[in-house]
Amino acid sequence: MENEVQVKTEHLVKRYPMGAESFPALQDINLQFMKGEFTGIVGPSGSGKTTLLNIIGTLDKPTEGEALLLGKTISKLTHKEGAKIRNEHLGFIFQTYNLLPVYTVFENVEFPLLLLSMEKKERDEAVWQALEWMQITEKAKVKPNQLSGGQAQRVAIARSIVKKPKIVIADEPTANLDAKNSHRILQLMVDLNKDLQTTFIFSTHDEKVIQYLRRIINLEDGRVASDELVELNGIATQE
Ligand SMILES: Nc1ncnc2c1ncn2[C@@H]1O[C@H](COP(=O)(O)OP(=O)(O)O)[C@@H](O)[C@H]1O
Ligand SMILES: [Mg+2]
Repeated sequence: MENEVQVKTEHLVKRYPMGAESFPALQDINLQFMKGEFTGIVGPSGSGKTTLLNIIGTLDKPTEGEALLLGKTISKLTHKEGAKIRNEHLGFIFQTYNLLPVYTVFENVEFPLLLLSMEKKERDEAVWQALEWMQITEKAKVKPNQLSGGQAQRVAIARSIVKKPKIVIADEPTANLDAKNSHRILQLMVDLNKDLQTTFIFSTHDEKVIQYLRRIINLEDGRVASDELVELNGIATQE
């Protein structure tokens, strides 16, 4: 379905306790993300990007308002329901890759599939396919400490998409990469978005990657300052 709403926030507020007071990290966020979107959440450090992605990814809960993920109300999910929805439908990519150091590249990418009931043969095929997509098959047998930053992030992306999740959530995926690797990573993400219709929602304050975005949401002090769809022939304001 082209017009499927996958994520929706309604008057979403997140406050962190700060002594006797509380600090509003997100204030009245009203957003919708549709299937197949390629969206960047842009804003300076401290603007609330990670907080928003964590809530959308069911890793955190709103203080007020609501967030819906694939039709489920996030604040009402039990621990077990949250884990199920993450295992089945979400992929995560982190700034620091978060690969497991004692496992090989192959085993790192295989890991999310062990949480699903899948036969070994089917798992192997999915892992090789993901490594091929990320052009990193030759590193399958090595441990993460033998990878460059760009290679490690490609492995992390392979891990995030190996189960063909509906949504990939990435928190500043190019923050630790040089220009060449940042462009390569973004181009691979764009290709996956096109080929698999995977929804990508990621945060960045990396100028180099802005040109790849199809929608740009600007956060400022925990509020949406702007939300624009990027047309191939320029920028069109959404509403
Ligand atoms: N666990 C926490 N406890 C208290 N304050 C937090 C916590 N996490 C984030 N914050 C604050 O919330 C604001 C938004 O943080 P964050 O979502 O990490 O922003 P960004 O990812 O855009 O840098 C910041 O001012 C940060 O200091
Ligand atoms: Mg952050």
